[in-house]
Amino acid sequence: MLAKRPPLGWNSWNTFGEHISDALIREMADRMVSDGYLEAGYEYLVIDDCWSLKERDRNGLLVPDPAKFPYGMKALADYVHSRGLKFGMYSCAGVQTCAGYPSSYDHEFTDAATFASWGVDFLKYDYCNFPDSGDCRARYETMSLALKATGREILFSGCNWGQKEPWKWMASVGAHMYRSTGDIMDNYRSFTEIFKSQLDNFCMSGAGCFNDMDMLTVGMCGSGNVGLGKVCTYEEYRMQFALWCLCGVPLMMGADLRKLAPEYQKLLKDKDLLRIDQDEECRPPYLIRRGGVTISNPEPKEGEFPWKTLPDTAYTVFRHLSGGEYALAFINLAPAEASVHCELADLGLPAHSGYLLEMKDVFTGENIGAKKDCFNPTVPGHDMKLYLCRLVKESD
Ligand code: GLA
Repeated sequence: MLAKRPPLGWNSWNTFGEHISDALIREMADRMVSDGYLEAGYEYLVIDDCWSLKERDRNGLLVPDPAKFPYGMKALADYVHSRGLKFGMYSCAGVQTCAGYPSSYDHEFTDAATFASWGVDFLKYDYCNFPDSGDCRARYETMSLALKATGREILFSGCNWGQKEPWKWMASVGAHMYRSTGDIMDNYRSFTEIFKSQLDNFCMSGAGCFNDMDMLTVGMCGSGNVGLGKVCTYEEYRMQFALWCLCGVPLMMGADLRKLAPEYQKLLKDKDLLRIDQDEECRPPYLIRRGGVTISNPEPKEGEFPWKTLPDTAYTVFRHLSGGEYALAFINLAPAEASVHCELADLGLPAHSGYLLEMKDVFTGENIGAKKDCFNPTVPGHDMKLYLCRLVKESD
């Protein structure tokens, strides 16, 4: 079975956009192995848009751009496979890809056969330039069947940005993940908006077909193809990675692996965070509490108080994991420190239960003891606290 757990890998788009080549992909393959990402679980190496010529050949086949991929895709796939990785490629359900290259509308069976003949293991399938008369769902159905008809096991990554409520049907048509939002940008606002937009949709994601909250920007630090706005701090990138893991979604790294600072290399391979993401039960998290953080308003205008509350900035999220573990997150999206609340009764643990929740801070590794009734940790601005928890019997 494919996508038993959220797929992990690397994708060329966030950093490189159209500047991709055979040499670059081989280098990334080498890095994925030598820097320990494959060992940590990242197995798919995916080439995004801009890999082909602008025209099909006279037989109607897609042609890799010989200036970028002089040895063709089969040779590159062979190299990627020789490193123990899986090879991913990209096409689109419309008549052209987002960057204006030929795509698979009405060519689904031909293109799927081409991908299979090259040894492709993963197809990201985008949604640009889709004809007004077309039926979105039907086209994803067709590509899904076309991939299956090849006889090759190819993970199908449906990328229609949350259009037409894909969480309701992508799993049914055979996709293994569905992009639920527009494109991530390399800034704090972008990834927190993605997280907030999916709070009600977590329950649709699970083994076999996962909610895809887009590729990570962790460690890009403003360089690359999707840099826009203020560069994230380490804590903000840590929050992005921890939120994706908490949600149990695919993790596709987007940074240039050759330039990733050591703290981000470490973060992306963090064992506890990856364990949460990859938990074998694949249960979705759920929202316990959504609130507002109150910050000071040093120069109140007439009628204002010297403080103000920013709505929808404090979130408490809980997730059942396997083996008697739980993840509990306190998320502060406001710019100032705040206490984020949780009544343990709201996650099913009333004060008279006779049990406490023992907690380990995932970021520091510190065991912070067992909690009862309520727990309201102080969380710095633009940061979160994440705990791995277990139930322990209260001693008399
Ligand atoms: C769309 C997708 C992105 C990327 C680009 C490529 O915007 O959502 O993830 O694949 O197309 O052009």
